[in-house]
Amino acid sequence: MQRGVMLTIREYCAADAASVGRLIAETYRTFNLDFATTAEQAEMLGPFQFADSSEPAHQMAIAEAIAAPIVLVAEDAGTIAGVLRGGRVDHKQRTVLQSLFVHGRYHRQGIGRQLVARFEQECQNQGVTVLKLASTLYAVPFYRALGYKRTTGLRTLHSFSGSGGAYQPMKKVLDTKRA
Ligand SMILES: CC(C)(COP(=O)(O)OP(=O)(O)OC[C@H]1O[C@@H](n2cnc3c(N)ncnc32)[C@H](O)[C@@H]1OP(=O)(O)O)[C@@H](O)C(=O)NCCC(=O)NCCS
Repeated sequence: MQRGVMLTIREYCAADAASVGRLIAETYRTFNLDFATTAEQAEMLGPFQFADSSEPAHQMAIAEAIAAPIVLVAEDAGTIAGVLRGGRVDHKQRTVLQSLFVHGRYHRQGIGRQLVARFEQECQNQGVTVLKLASTLYAVPFYRALGYKRTTGLRTLHSFSGSGGAYQPMKKVLDTKRA
């Protein structure tokens, strides 16, 4: 961890919605949607394309898009540096790590690792043994470093009303001894 970063991992609350919305918009656009045109990016960003808008309808749509059974944020002296959403259970009864974004200014300081560790711990506390996720191509080395394994080949990414690019399905069997 870089000197000067006083990191807190905590549960997300409603007052975080605007800053989390901006974090997701900026990070998704920069690291994951660089292959797409501006119009395609807007479709894939869904409500997050309006992250800088103060219009109540936009802010409400962003808050709804952030909602998930578990939402964790990493905070550095009042600034939201990262967010993890997860806990949805899919049609095969598998628990999903839905999305994870750490702002570019904070990459490679262990923040993603800490958010995932806290999420895995909460899942284990609830008796979950296997986690699955759809990794962006950018994040595959990160998830591999944390013990996630590829489960299939690449799939086409669908995001809000847009699609394009690819994602890598991955999973991890949690260490039951750690619970
Ligand atoms: C993927 C992401 C969440 C990682 O967050 P982070 O806080 O930078 O990651 P950490 O510092 O905790 O990295 C932990 C380990 O993962 C690996 N790692 C992380 N980023 C990596 C990269 N870009 N390339 C290769 N390995 C990487 C390293 O082994 C790293 O340990 P080290 O720094 O000691 O070598 C962040 O890069 C991000 O938000 N990317 C854009 C959005 C995205 O793709 N999210 C995934 C959505 S599913």
